[in-house]
Amino acid sequence: MDYSMLVNKQNPLDSSFEPQELVVYPEYNGPKIDPNHKTLVEATTLNAFYEMQAAAMKEQGYHIIVDSAYRSYAYQQKVLERNLAEKGESAYSFVALPGTSEHQSGLAIDVALYIDGEYTDQFDDTFPQIQWLFNNAHRFGFILRYPKGAEHITGYKYECWHFRYVGKEIALDMYDNNIRTFEEYHTLLKRK
Ligand code: DAL
Ligand code: ZN
Repeated sequence: MDYSMLVNKQNPLDSSFEPQELVVYPEYNGPKIDPNHKTLVEATTLNAFYEMQAAAMKEQGYHIIVDSAYRSYAYQQKVLERNLAEKGESAYSFVALPGTSEHQSGLAIDVALYIDGEYTDQFDDTFPQIQWLFNNAHRFGFILRYPKGAEHITGYKYECWHFRYVGKEIALDMYDNNIRTFEEYHTLLKRK
């Protein structure tokens, strides 16, 4: 698995692309578009997430969970159709076309939270749990993939919940050099 792979509108995945090793994430399986949909995550990514989850709990008592991770090409189509039906054309600014979603790589994780024992996906970046992720995700090999003010680079609205596993080396390199988007990181790599 290439943990440095760039997936975006300009760099789509084949419709048949599947990550080599997908593992079931058991903790949350709430309402989904397809009732049989299991939360699956690429194996190394899930281990890194568990490491980050344990640190958030140990260091701060924050309970972070995986809300949405791997989505097949067909499932992303369903996500897009539902959002188009509910929100109209604006859905294109926050839901990727099938083939261009990083979720198809298995390396992307949308987080949710347990607060006082209750699941919630209603949070913003003022929540301390999210601030903790912003300041610590790199330690575990994750980056915030759609940062604020980078819509013109990433192609998507700011998402404070979507993290991408890139491995510790790249995540630390981006953090240390203040490179905010994976697009910019890849452009710099090409120049090297
Ligand atoms: N929300 C992100 C952009 C996706 O649909 O992959
Ligand atoms: Zn996402």
